[in-house]
Amino acid sequence: MKVSFAAQRPEGAFALAIPVRGEDMLADRLAGLDEAGRALAARAADAQRFDREAAAIAETFVSEGDSARRLLLVGLGGKRDDEALYEKVGGALSAKLLTSGETRLVVDLTGLDVDGEAAARIAFGAAARAWRYDVYRTKLNAKAKPTLDEVVIVGGGADADSAWARKAALLEGISLTRELVTEPANIVYPETFVERCQKRMAGLGIEFEILDEPAMRALGMNALLGVAIGSARPPRLLAMRWNGAADPQAKPVVLVGKGVTFDTGGISIKPAAGMESMKWDMGGAGAVAGTMLALASRKAKANVVGICGLVENMPDGKAQRPGDVVTSLSGQTIEVINTDAEGRLVLCDAMAWAQRQYKPEYMIDLATLTGAMIVSLGYEYGGLFSSDDDLAGKLADAGLKTGDKLWRMPMGDVYDKLMDSPIADMKNSGPREGGSITAATFLGRFVEEGVKWAHLDIAGMVWANKPGTLWDKGATGYGVALLDRLVADNFEG
Ligand code: BES
Ligand code: MN
Ligand code: ZN
Repeated sequence: MKVSFAAQRPEGAFALAIPVRGEDMLADRLAGLDEAGRALAARAADAQRFDREAAAIAETFVSEGDSARRLLLVGLGGKRDDEALYEKVGGALSAKLLTSGETRLVVDLTGLDVDGEAAARIAFGAAARAWRYDVYRTKLNAKAKPTLDEVVIVGGGADADSAWARKAALLEGISLTRELVTEPANIVYPETFVERCQKRMAGLGIEFEILDEPAMRALGMNALLGVAIGSARPPRLLAMRWNGAADPQAKPVVLVGKGVTFDTGGISIKPAAGMESMKWDMGGAGAVAGTMLALASRKAKANVVGICGLVENMPDGKAQRPGDVVTSLSGQTIEVINTDAEGRLVLCDAMAWAQRQYKPEYMIDLATLTGAMIVSLGYEYGGLFSSDDDLAGKLADAGLKTGDKLWRMPMGDVYDKLMDSPIADMKNSGPREGGSITAATFLGRFVEEGVKWAHLDIAGMVWANKPGTLWDKGATGYGVALLDRLVADNFEG
């Protein structure tokens, strides 16, 4: 999507969108139209029951010279406290026009007195909502092909371009995440996940370190390797380091992502119905990769390391069995009760390595860890687990501001002891009840003294079965805006 900002409406063909607040006089907002146009627009608003609700749209055509222009009235609602409002407005307009035949959208903010940030947010919403991945469609019907490829925001203030530069970086990151999540598991598997990240982040100043199977074996990452052993695809541990802080020695924020490129469940195999969705069991790693791209693209003034534990979980003659005991990198032993509780086995070694290597002050892991998380929170909130109130607050706040919402869940010893094993230090799966919480306490056993840690269970957020405000059906890119904002608000200067 081409994006630009202007003081005046451009020449030529375009669909015109006029945002209207709850309290605006419609006639004021339509001042640019002639009398017949104003009457048409007012009637369209009425006839389509347009109450100016946030992101609601009324559509009409008004004559302009000897042609007709498509006009969209778009609501801004009555409240001003929704930070994600302008993204939603851009997203709604984009969804409406994407395959409409229109190629250019002009959003005219003249007279609304909003700043460049709002203008950039509208553009961001429009571009984010227009993202699609059509590389495997060789027979897309002409009418299903997107037409909209440009958005011009008029009257958005002088700082719109610099605000947009930050949003464009964010969009790069979100697009990479969506792409990685959308790609099937025969295309994106541990090695190719790494390759794609290297290709997309080349030249930005991100330092890559990649551990292959022998390297991980030498270190003793047997929990991660136990998951990988049943697959023909060798595992990888990917570390991406962005050192943008004024003090290059400052302790980094470490992000760790679950990157199970396909989760069959292993020997504790999953039912066939819906198993294809487990191609997106690398959504945590995808969000970490996208965040690194976003941060480097906007040259964030922070030291951040993104780590992805990449494996495929398959059943096989060599696969690990329920009851096997593995010694993790931390030295703690784990009884593998259920080979489908593999994400925590991957994360515990990735987290142990991250702490050893980078001595972080903050460590945040993201994972599509449990189906139980979806039972708890549905598809509206990611689960936030942390023993650090301050970090939990920062994350919840970034969630509200970006729309990547989080809801805090409990932890504690009463849950933790449910993971004790009769044969090893712990088991990898506890009772069904509270399954997301015991998964979190399992991970908590691998967090070192003094490290401020949060775990985000994003099982319900990575993939959408219906279109949302900023995404179509499919990969949402959840987590990138959240982490980018967390860094911007708390870890830059
Ligand atoms: N990747 C799944 C969790 C998942 C399930 C994410 C459905 C999104 C949708 C994870 O590896 C898993 O299989 N978890 C098990 C844990 C159980 C065996 C303790 C689960 O949630 O059933
Ligand atoms: Mn699993
Ligand atoms: Zn999984």
